[in-house]
Amino acid sequence: MSLISLHAVGYSYDGVSAVLRDLDWSFEPGCFHAIVGRSGAGKTTALSLLAGLATPTSGKIEFDGRDLARLDRYRYRRRDVGVVFQSFNLLPHLTARENVELTLRASGKPIRDKRRVALDRLAGVGLSQELADRRVLKLSGGEQQRVAIARALAFDPRVILADEPTGNLDLTTQEDIIDLLTASAREGKCVIVVTHSPEVAQCADQVHKLQAPHLKSTSRRGKRKHPAPATP
Ligand SMILES: Nc1ncnc2c1ncn2[C@@H]1O[C@H](COP(=O)(O)OP(=O)(O)OP(=O)(O)O)[C@@H](O)[C@H]1O
Ligand SMILES: [Mg+2]
Repeated sequence: MSLISLHAVGYSYDGVSAVLRDLDWSFEPGCFHAIVGRSGAGKTTALSLLAGLATPTSGKIEFDGRDLARLDRYRYRRRDVGVVFQSFNLLPHLTARENVELTLRASGKPIRDKRRVALDRLAGVGLSQELADRRVLKLSGGEQQRVAIARALAFDPRVILADEPTGNLDLTTQEDIIDLLTASAREGKCVIVVTHSPEVAQCADQVHKLQAPHLKSTSRRGKRKHPAPATP
C-alpha cells in the first residue's frame, strides 16, 4: 500500500508550458525510491510538490489516502516530511546543532533532550561535536550537506525527501549516506531521493525517471543487490 501516490499530476510555472505532465507514481513505506532525469527535467519541481511546498496544477497527490492539497500542509511539512534541499536551506549563522534543534522544536514532537538527539544525528552523518558546535557558514559544502541530512532525519518523519543528497560528497561519505538512507527505508520510512548518481540510483528499490522535455515518465524496479525483507 502506497504512502504517497500521484494521480495524473502535472505542474506548470507559467500556466502555459508544463514542466511535469501526467505523473502516476506511487511511493511505499519501507522503500528507497530514486527520481532520475536530466538537468531541467523537473526533479526538484516534483520534490517540491511531494514536500507540500507547491500544489499540482493538474491531478492530485495523496498522502496516506488523503488529498495533500486539503491537508494542513504546514503540519505535514513540520511533522511528516524531512527534506534535504538541493541548496541545503540551513541557517548559516546558527551552529549545525542549533539548526537540527530548531527543526526538532518545530516538529512539536515530544523529544526531551533535543541537544543530545541533535548531536547523535550529527554524529550519525560523521560530524563530530566540534563541527556540530561550529556555525554553518564555517563548514565545508560537504559538511553542510551532512547537516542538512541530519536535520531531515532528526525528528523521525515518515517521509524523507532528498534532492541530490550526495552531490558534494566524496565516494566514502557518499556510501555512508546511502547506507543511512537505506537503513531509514528498512526502518519503514518512505525515502525518495533525487539523484544524478548512478551509484545512488543502483541502490534504490524503485527508480522513477523523468524524461525531458517533461512529457513522459517511467518507473522501474531498482537493481539493489540486497532485496528488501519480505513483509509479513
Ligand atoms: N520558479 C521557477 N519559475 C519558472 N520556471 C522554473 C522555476 N523553477 C524551475 N523552473 C524551470 O522548470 C524546469 C524544471 O526545473 P527543476 O529545477 O525542477 O529541474 P531539475 O530536474 O531539478 O534540474 P537539475 O538537475 O538541474 O537540478 C526547468 O526548465 C527550470 O528552468
Ligand atoms: Mg534540481
